This record gives sequence, C-alpha cells and structure tokens, in this order.
Amino acid sequence: MRLAILGGGPGSWIGHMHRSAAELDGWWRVVGGVFSGDPARSRDGGALLGYDRERCYGTLDELVAGERARPDPAEAVAIMTPNDTHYPLAAAALDAGLDVVCDKPVTHDAAQARDLVMRTRRHGRLFAVAHGYSAYPMTRYARHLVDTGAIGELRYVQVEYVQSGLAPRIEDAPQNNRLRWVLDPRRSGLALVMSAIGCHAQHLASFAVNRRVTSVCADAISVVPNREVIDTVSALLRFEGGLAGTFTAIQAAAGSENDIRLRVYGANGMLDWSHREPSYLRIAMLNEGPRVAGRGDANLPPEIVALGRAPRGHPEGLREAFANIYAEVAQERMLRALGEPVPAFRYPTIEEGAHTMAFIEACMASQGRWVDVAA
Ligand SMILES: NC(=O)c1ccc[n+]([C@@H]2O[C@H](COP(=O)([O-])OP(=O)(O)OC[C@H]3O[C@@H](n4cnc5c(N)ncnc54)[C@H](O)[C@@H]3O)[C@@H](O)[C@H]2O)c1
Repeated sequence: MRLAILGGGPGSWIGHMHRSAAELDGWWRVVGGVFSGDPARSRDGGALLGYDRERCYGTLDELVAGERARPDPAEAVAIMTPNDTHYPLAAAALDAGLDVVCDKPVTHDAAQARDLVMRTRRHGRLFAVAHGYSAYPMTRYARHLVDTGAIGELRYVQVEYVQSGLAPRIEDAPQNNRLRWVLDPRRSGLALVMSAIGCHAQHLASFAVNRRVTSVCADAISVVPNREVIDTVSALLRFEGGLAGTFTAIQAAAGSENDIRLRVYGANGMLDWSHREPSYLRIAMLNEGPRVAGRGDANLPPEIVALGRAPRGHPEGLREAFANIYAEVAQERMLRALGEPVPAFRYPTIEEGAHTMAFIEACMASQGRWVDVAA
C-alpha cells in the first residue's frame, strides 16, 4: 500500500522512525510527501531523502491533487509535523479520502480530536495514533493477562514516564526550528510534558487495563524556575470501575533517559513492564517467585508472538512497535477491501486519541482538585 509522509524531513527526530517502520514488514511503500512547512524546502528535503521529486509536494493540497492525477496514488498519510499542525492536516487528509496515521498529541485539544473522530467515521476511514509503547509484544501481553484475569480483580495502576530533556534551561540555548515550536505553548500544546510523553503514559495505562480514566486530581507545574511551558504533571487517577492509580510525567528529571514504566496490581499478583527492557514482562504472583516472560516465548498466545520478528534475546525496539501499528492498519485496509471480517486490531485509534486529549484537559483544569475527564 502507498503511504505519503507529512513532516519528517531530513534532520527531524521522528521522521526516520515512521518511514522505516512503515516499510519494515513490506505492507507499505513510502511514495513521497510534504516534508516541510516551506514548499521549496519540502521538495528539496523529499528529494534528499530519496523520493521521486515529482511526488515531493509543497503543500497537502498539492499532494492531494498530484496524487489524484496518478494511476498509483497514495492511499494514506502519516503525520509527523509540529503538534499544532496535526489537526488541520489530519482533517484535510480525511476529507480527501485518505487513511491517517498521526503522531501525538493527536490535536491541540479534545474538541479538535472529537471532530476527527466524527470525520473518520463520516468518511469511513482508518485513523491510528502513534502510541508505540502499547504496540510492543509485551505490553500487548500485559493487556492479554489483564483481560484473561491472570492477576485477578484489578486493584491499582502505577504509570510513570521520566525524561531529562527539559532538565537544563534549553530556553537559554541557541534555538533551532524544533526548539522554536516545542517551547511555544501555542504550538506544542496545552502542556509540553503531556504532549511529549504524558499522553503516552496515560495511553499505555488505559490500554493495559482496558479502561478509560474517569477523573484526575493533578498537579501541573514547571519544576525548572522561570519556565513558560509545563515540564511536570503528577496525578491521582480513577479509571472506569473505580480502579485507582498514580501518574507521573516529567521531562526535567536530570540523569534519566527514556524511562516509561507500567505496573498493574491485581488481587493475586502484579505485572511490571519497563521500556529499559521492553522485550520482557515481569509477572509476580502472591506467594510465588517472580517470573519473566520474554518476547517470542513459545507459550505466549500466537497473536502476541506474531508481534515480534526475531527470536527471544535479539533486541527489538520502538521501530518494531511502530511497525506493528502500520502492519495492523494495513491489514485492516486489506480485509475491508476484500470484504472479509475484520478482527479487533489493537492499534491506537482516534477515539483513544480523543480520550487522551480529554485527559490532558482535565489534568490542566484540576489544580489539585478532583475533576472529571470528559466522556
Ligand atoms: N510517537 C513518538 O514516540 C514520538 C516521538 C517523538 C516525536 N513525536 C511527535 O512527532 C512530531 C514531530 O516531532 P519531531 O521531534 O520529529 O519534530 P521536528 O521538529 O524534528 O520535525 C518536524 C518536521 O516536520 C516538518 N514540518 C514542519 N511543518 C510542516 C508542515 N506544515 N507540513 C509538512 N512538514 C512540516 C519540518 O520541516 C520537520 O522536518 C511531533 O508531533 C512529536 O510530538 C512522537
């Protein structure tokens, strides 16, 4: 299937991850795109990445017109532009009849995300959000164990995402294109730390326990002095069914790396997944020693094994997790086109993206009080 890229020009952070993940399993071929907000730079940037110059467009409008005129048009777009452009690009792509894979935060606010839900449904399109952490084999296995009651009735969830990128005052460093949009709250979103990593943490927790967050009591602050953007959010959570939990997202934790960790406690035991060792899931039952399940273990359900590519012990990472999202979207497209039954693929949907935006809004409104997350 043919994919066009929006964003992800030479030198961008996440562009290579998307482009290579989309093509990893052979489902998609990247045919071109719009690689910059500046039309001339977009055409040059796309050509530099190796795409046919004819298919390196200056704007999305040009792309839609140019691809429509071809016998082999792009069938979907992947959006990896600065955050404030996700909504207009996604809305226009859906209206043009394209399926969408969009990076997070999916929009600026929940109202925009709800609008994308409606457009996706109205046009009968597919819309995936690039929450890679819930597409690892072992986070999918955690969800499987929760769904099958392996740890008993759920009691508590702990999710944390800790980074160090905002520990120094990067506001005082020489600015580049990326820092300019990241440090501008009108462009990066309601709270920088939530746009960057908090959205992933909430999504992973909700995914693993298969429940939305219904209310939060949150503290959204900047721990680095004299900072305009929010770098830290701590929150108490209630999920559907009254399940309790805690949430930490901080980008100003000096010395940390890219530490996202999820622990789910049930009446009979717990699950522990950390991005430091993403191919493993620690399972500890009451009165038993812990055991470590690994990607590729023969006793895993076949649909979990199928999410990995190399045997146990051979590292796989975020690229492969992204590739799982692209593969599932492609398979759903194919089954729909063939008129065959479509199983419930687990890639993050626009409905989940809308819930994440409502969660972020609730965290920002909370100011230390319990507030509901809009349904
Ligand atoms: N899912 C993840 O794990 C993950 C990780 C990192 C970044 N991201 C997201 O990816 C997006 C991009 O982040 P980044 O760090 O790569 O940013 P970046 O600034 O490094 O790259 C942005 C790219 O988009 C291009 N661009 C800007 N405006 C454009 C427009 N209107 N049309 C087309 N191209 C345009 C720029 O030229 C650049 O190539 C952000 O939304 C970010 O939140 C997601």
